[in-house]
Amino acid sequence: MFDNPSLLIASGETPTGQINWKSPSNIAIIKYWGKYGVQYPRNPSISFTLENAFTQTVLDYEPKTDQGEGISLDFAFHGEENEAFRVKMVKFLESIRPIFPFLNQLHLKVRSGNSFPHSAGIASSASSMSALALCLCTLEDELFQTLQEDELFDKKASYVARLGSGSACRSIYGGMAAWGETEAIIGASNDFAVPFMDEMHDIYKNFHDDILIASQSEKSVSSRAGHGLMEGNAYAAPRYQQANDRMKTLVEVLKNGDVETFGAIAENEALTLHALMMTSEPSYVLMRPNSLKMIELIRDFRQETKHPIYFSLDAGPNLHLLYPETVIHEVRPFIEEQLVPLCEEEMWISDWVGEGPEQLEEVGE
Ligand code: DP6
Repeated sequence: MFDNPSLLIASGETPTGQINWKSPSNIAIIKYWGKYGVQYPRNPSISFTLENAFTQTVLDYEPKTDQGEGISLDFAFHGEENEAFRVKMVKFLESIRPIFPFLNQLHLKVRSGNSFPHSAGIASSASSMSALALCLCTLEDELFQTLQEDELFDKKASYVARLGSGSACRSIYGGMAAWGETEAIIGASNDFAVPFMDEMHDIYKNFHDDILIASQSEKSVSSRAGHGLMEGNAYAAPRYQQANDRMKTLVEVLKNGDVETFGAIAENEALTLHALMMTSEPSYVLMRPNSLKMIELIRDFRQETKHPIYFSLDAGPNLHLLYPETVIHEVRPFIEEQLVPLCEEEMWISDWVGEGPEQLEEVGE
């Protein structure tokens, strides 16, 4: 869709420069779980883009001294060279050379880091792949002035981010973003995400999503492998149908501010995701005992106080606590007194719906 063989640097030109983006993570309310082909989703998904959980990526570029074939890349994560990440990134950059053929002509230095501790077990592929995609689109625009129009820039960044990690395509937009064909959202596509900000009811615009770290251990099964196991899952077909149907209900609820229905869908989606993992072959469980304890406490607290506070889960053990700004003073003491003691090393991250990625000033070497 975005392949463009004409994006080559003319001989004699020696471009150098630096590009710096920070891009956030996101939490899906309708989950993407199951894919086909080159990173196409089996069902539509929609997420809140976060504010505090982000990746910052600095890309330095200069002409390649050795004009041999292939990607020339140095990579550092949190200031340290990381060969495993470097190899993965080279593979990804090689796969997108038809989109950015000039990548063959440059030497790239990528420095990346997350705002959250690596050990927190927070999926970082959404923030890291969206940050990288934004850097690459800015690079294309600096070299060829081909992405001057914001809408086109975002669409291409989302497309490229998707190729790196499906959920990353939604992080390009602030507020909410939807990915995957659905009748519920005009313009929704399997190729890239679309923003869902203008139609969103005010109550969701500063919704909270506190992340409670139930366990910092590495996941036993990666998301990539988890998506793969959906191919043999007996519940796959009804699940994809459910996500399609739910998308229509959720879009209504996002427009009219019915937080109760929103919460019921968010919780059921989280548990459905984990049920799909448990019913895969081989079966696996990513929730930990404290994830379940927290779920019970959240439901009890909601029952007793009638406050609209709900949970979500990513493909991991950590709880995402969703609630509107209006109840923050009631919810905070509950988190600190009852939930934080169940977090590993009492680790939790206060987060909320954010405005999306931001291009930053140049930094030093
Ligand atoms: C559970 O986007 O991490 O977070 O496309 O293989 O990189 P890949 O998978 P990834 O899957 C994450 C799925 C999820 C739900 C969601 O974000 O929609």
